[in-house]
Order: sequence, then structure tokens, then C-alpha cells
Amino acid sequence: MSRSNPILAASAQSTEAYQQAIAQTSQAVVQWLQQPEMYQGKSVAELRERIALDFTTEGLGNQAAIERAIEYFLKDSLSVHHPQCVAHLHCPSLVISQAAEVLINATNQSMDSWDQSPSATIIEMKLIEWLRAQVGYQAGDAGVFTSGGTQSNLMGLMLARDAFFARQGHSVQQDGLPGDLSKIKVFCSENAHFSVQKNMALMGLGYRSVTLVKTDRFARMDTADLADKLALAKANGEKVLAIVATAGTTDAGAIDPLREIAQIAAENETWLHVDAAWGGALLLSDKYRHYLDGIELVDSITLDFHKQFFQTISCGAFLLKEARHYELMRYQAAYLNSEFDEAQGVPNLVSKSLQTTRRFDALKMWMGLEALGQKQYAEIIDHGVTLAQQVAAWVAEQPALELVMEPQLASVLFRFRPQQGDDAAIALLNQKIGDALLDSGRANVGVTEHNGVTCLKMTLLNPTVTLEDIKLLLALVERTAASLA
Ligand SMILES: Cc1ncc(COP(=O)(O)O)c(C=O)c1O
Repeated sequence: MSRSNPILAASAQSTEAYQQAIAQTSQAVVQWLQQPEMYQGKSVAELRERIALDFTTEGLGNQAAIERAIEYFLKDSLSVHHPQCVAHLHCPSLVISQAAEVLINATNQSMDSWDQSPSATIIEMKLIEWLRAQVGYQAGDAGVFTSGGTQSNLMGLMLARDAFFARQGHSVQQDGLPGDLSKIKVFCSENAHFSVQKNMALMGLGYRSVTLVKTDRFARMDTADLADKLALAKANGEKVLAIVATAGTTDAGAIDPLREIAQIAAENETWLHVDAAWGGALLLSDKYRHYLDGIELVDSITLDFHKQFFQTISCGAFLLKEARHYELMRYQAAYLNSEFDEAQGVPNLVSKSLQTTRRFDALKMWMGLEALGQKQYAEIIDHGVTLAQQVAAWVAEQPALELVMEPQLASVLFRFRPQQGDDAAIALLNQKIGDALLDSGRANVGVTEHNGVTCLKMTLLNPTVTLEDIKLLLALVERTAASLA
């Protein structure tokens, strides 16, 4: 080796290099956290011009590579902890999550087999048991950590599909999909996350397999429309694999009426998956846990900890009500989860996951729960929901702003409303306001559509943000609108 050993290992040289690299990066992070701007405001073209890979024959060494990452990545990163960074379901992270990442990364355990992650496997299984208890499932460990909501939704849809055909004596796992594929359907509300469509396409069933159910004025699934559409599907000989309810839609934060939908799913003998990627945070809430009433009745659940649980990306989970359904994705790989191992009760989590090599993201949530405790976790989750209500009340009082709908979780949908202009002009103005704010580096406010109306969105996850911060942001929105007019 031309240089010193680059691998993390026991030697004095390696541990010293490790400590130096971590010290250099963590000091840079501390400085970055203090940058006043939310974003340095460089354009796409500027960043393309500025950023280039410096891959040389001899290598730059750790220190110089880190300096370059600070210069070209860190300084031009979006400050997700900034009070005016509210565009997405994109949270600032817990300090304890950062400490967990150090352990996760340094140990580099892989969750696919016991012999690559012994203590980690047990911690993940115990955390899944604990999460199951929180949703009200029976004791057990059917579930797994995932890369996030998209993957968890895929697991729910895939198991629903395979359970549907298994009931008809057909194994999709062995023989692939049977019959007329155009008859296969899943149902979700028109506000469900697009990962439902993408996952159905990935499963070979196409976007058209998704039947959209109407929503009520609170953006929740309209159960009368669900029942009607299911009856029509049955009359047309369609095969309904699953209903996907959402607990926390991406924009409006709407929570579908889970208990009622569970009743309809039971009557139709249909798998019910709940995408609680966002709303699942309310499991830890003091004030709002009841919004998730009925979640214990569903067949499978998506949870995301890199949203309102404040964990670093990525960190999600999939929970499966009945462990027997895991048989539908069983694959025995001699080198990972052999029959011999399993007969002796060795837990190899590859059996529960779509991934093979997998990060030990469960540690972040485990350490987060231990460090914060129930009371503080509840407080930081409840903060956003309560703040959204206060912000909505404020928006409703501003003559130049219009509240597009009442908040349900921690988001506020609103728009700037000039005295003149048709809908298209107002839509364009709001789009431009969002773009101008990001270009200026001062704020990141979401631009989205709700019921065909282009609006601005604030996702108020950050527990350190106050109503005063948001009033300043809204004043900035108004000034930006005036400068664009
Ligand atoms: C309701 C909902 N479900 C699923 C997802 C996808 O989750 P992920 O980005 O973790 O894959 C999102 C993302 O925002 C979401 O809002």
C-alpha cells in the first residue's frame, strides 16, 4: 500500500486516523450548524460547474478529501434544522441519532444474518416487538426495519398480493402472476402516496391497477365511495388485492378513518395495509394517539422514523399482523438462513426483509427511545401538530393569505391571494414565491397541489420552531409576493 492503511481496524495508526477524521468532520458540522443562511443559494448551473470528482492516482488522503467534502457538499447543503426549512416531511435529526450513526457505521453490522449482527439482530427484534405492542398487535416479532415508507409499502402490497393468490391455491412466489392481470386492483385514496402506484408498477401490475377512492373535505378517504367502488369491482370480476389506507397523507396530513375502513376490508375479505409513514409518530403522542384508532385491526403497517420521529435518513419499519404471512416471501439461502440454523432457532432477519445486506438503523430508534423517554418524545411530536393549528389560525386572519385546509397533523396548506388575478395567475404566483424563497437561500416552503389548487405548504416538524418564527416566514412570503407582482 502506497499510503498508510486506510481501513478502520485496531492498529494505533488506524484508530488515530479514525479519531482525526471524525474530529475534523464533527467540527465542520458544528460550524455548518451555525451558518445563518438556510441555504447558500447556488443555482443548479452553479453547483454543476463547481462540483467535480477529484479522483487521482495517488489519492488526496483523508484530510484533504474531508476538506473538499466540507467545501463542496457541506457548505452548500440545505440546513434542515433551520426554522424556515419547512418544505417537506424532512426532519432535523436528534443528537442521539447522530451518536447512533457513529456506532452503526463503525461496526458496519449487516442485518441479513445472525453471524453478521448478533446483538443488533436481537435489538431489532426486541424493538419490533415493542412497536407491535404500541400499535396494539399481539405479541410477536413479525416485522422488520426498512429503508423507509416506499419499501414498507412495497412489502405490504407484495404480501397482500401473494396472500390473495395463496387463498386461491396459487403461489405467486413460485409461479408468478396468473390470469388476466388487468383485473388485478388495489384501492387507496386519491391522496395516498405515489409509492402505491410505483410499487404496483414494480410488481408488474402498472399504475392502472390502482383505483383511487374519493376524499372528504378533510382529505380523508371517503368510505362510502370505497364501499361503492369495491362493489363495482366485484361486479366486474376484478381481483382486489388490498386496500391501502393512509395515516398522515403527505400534504394535508389527513388520517383515513381506519376503524371504518377495517370493517369494510373485513366484509370484503381484503387485506388492509396502512401507510402510517407520517402519522405513525402519533403512536408516541400524549394528545393525539387517538387519531390512530383502529390501527391495531389492519394486516400490515408502514412506519417511518426519518419523518416525525426525528431520526436520520434512512430509518423505517414494516409491521405484519400475522407472522404466517412471512411464509409468502420465504427463501432459504444456504449461506445465510439455512434450515439447519433455523431449526436451532437462530434468527436470520433476511427472512423478513426484501433487502439482503441491510443497515442497523434500528439502533437509532432504540437509542432515541432510551435517551428521550416517553414524555420528551411525546412533547416534540405534539409540538408540530399543535403549532400547525396555531399557524393555521394566524394564516386565516391575514388578508393576503388563504388557508387552503384545516391542518390535521403538522402541515399547513395555504396560498398567497392577491386582490386580482384568475386561478392560473394565482397558481403561477405561488409557484414563483416558492422558487424565489429557495433561490434567495432564506426559506424552503413547499409548493404542491390540493384538490387542483396550487398552494404553499409548511411542514412544521421541527420542535424548536415557534409561532413567531413562522410569522416571520409568512411576512417573508408576503414581501416576496409583492416583489414578484
Ligand atoms: C405518506 C407517505 N408514505 C410513504 C412515503 C415514502 O416514504 P420514504 O420516502 O421513506 O420512502 C412518504 C414520503 O414522504 C409519505 O409521505
